[in-house]
Amino acid sequence: MPDIALDNLSKSFGTFVAVDGATLTAADGELLTLLGPSGCGKTTTLRMIAGLEEPSGGSIRIGERMVYDRAHGIDVPAEVRGLGMVFQSYAIWPHMTVAENIAYPLRMRRVGRAQRRELVDKVLDLVGLSGLGDKPSTLLSGGQQQRVALARALVFEPALLLLDEPLSNLDAKLREQMRFELRIMQQRIGLTAVYVTHDQEEALTLSDRLVVMNHGEIEQIGTPTEVYEHPATRFVAQFIGKGNMIDVASGVDWQPSGARLTLHSGGEAREVQIPASSIRTEPARKTKAAANADLSPAASLFVRPEKIEIGSGERAGARSAHAVHLAGRVLGRAYVGNRAEYLVAINDATSLKVESSTDVTVGPGAEVMLSIAPEDMVLYRPSPQ
Ligand SMILES: Nc1ncnc2c1ncn2[C@@H]1O[C@H](COP(=O)(O)OP(=O)(O)O)[C@@H](O)[C@H]1O
Ligand SMILES: [Mg+2]
Repeated sequence: MPDIALDNLSKSFGTFVAVDGATLTAADGELLTLLGPSGCGKTTTLRMIAGLEEPSGGSIRIGERMVYDRAHGIDVPAEVRGLGMVFQSYAIWPHMTVAENIAYPLRMRRVGRAQRRELVDKVLDLVGLSGLGDKPSTLLSGGQQQRVALARALVFEPALLLLDEPLSNLDAKLREQMRFELRIMQQRIGLTAVYVTHDQEEALTLSDRLVVMNHGEIEQIGTPTEVYEHPATRFVAQFIGKGNMIDVASGVDWQPSGARLTLHSGGEAREVQIPASSIRTEPARKTKAAANADLSPAASLFVRPEKIEIGSGERAGARSAHAVHLAGRVLGRAYVGNRAEYLVAINDATSLKVESSTDVTVGPGAEVMLSIAPEDMVLYRPSPQ
């Protein structure tokens, strides 16, 4: 299976920049996910890879072959790129049987009847639909129809599989099951795949690596763990998982060894020392839309709810000798089976979400002490314009 490389790939519709200089690679056998909110340019990127949308600039290489290079006038037609595609609307032809639907791409490629049959049987088996080839496709359930769409994309043994929100028409339970099946299948075949979704949970569970996009720009590329544990920008931090973002309007003392700032809790000023390794300088936004949408204060402090320890009284956090201690009052508590979630006000303006796997059974109104290790906090600093 080939790898794929996009270099500075862009697409404008008139003056609107939908994709702004996307540079990324997917290794042989890798499942790479484009993740981001609706309208951030995921589908446009995928359609450019497929050859269905002409880029405004940049290049696309699939394996050894340059399929698009604006500067050198290379533009390999979609049908010659040999890619399998699965969409949200899976476009199963109702007047055909399951096998006829799946065999369609083979007929287009003038594959003979006997070989068609053999390939269709093989792929039916692969997607867990063996024996259903002669059924009218309309008699299948939603999940089965999506499998037919997948089988149709895989039957001609494509060089690369492109999937655009393939599970979003399925109900929650089925979506989760198909997510696992898809992943197992992709790994078994060793397919290189580019997967598009706006669902962060889906992206985290399916992917080898994620590409987080916002307003046509790539914000971060990394493994699910990297992106969750070390979000590169405020956008990534807030888009993926739960978190607390505390605006720090002013008063940050930036030093080479880190930064010092003050948080107010329990009527006191608490000094917080952030190590340099926890400071992220955000890149300047290239597009005007992005710059306008993300107007934010001078700095923001970020911490995940599960990184905050909660205790009653003056108990010090056990996780770090340098922990920051913040006095707070519980506003609400929710029991979620394997953990408890709290909302704790540390001052009139700031409340923090806290998650604890050991239930400390403090209810609304209780005075508590929160402890946070400095290395579990991230301080975002916008780059000077
Ligand atoms: N053919 C088109 N003409 C004009 N604008 C388009 C066209 N296709 C997409 N766009 C715009 O480009 C942006 C990105 O679209 P898209 O790639 O579909 O986003 P996503 O798949 O991330 O939801 C959106 O603002 C969309 O309205
Ligand atoms: Mg889309």
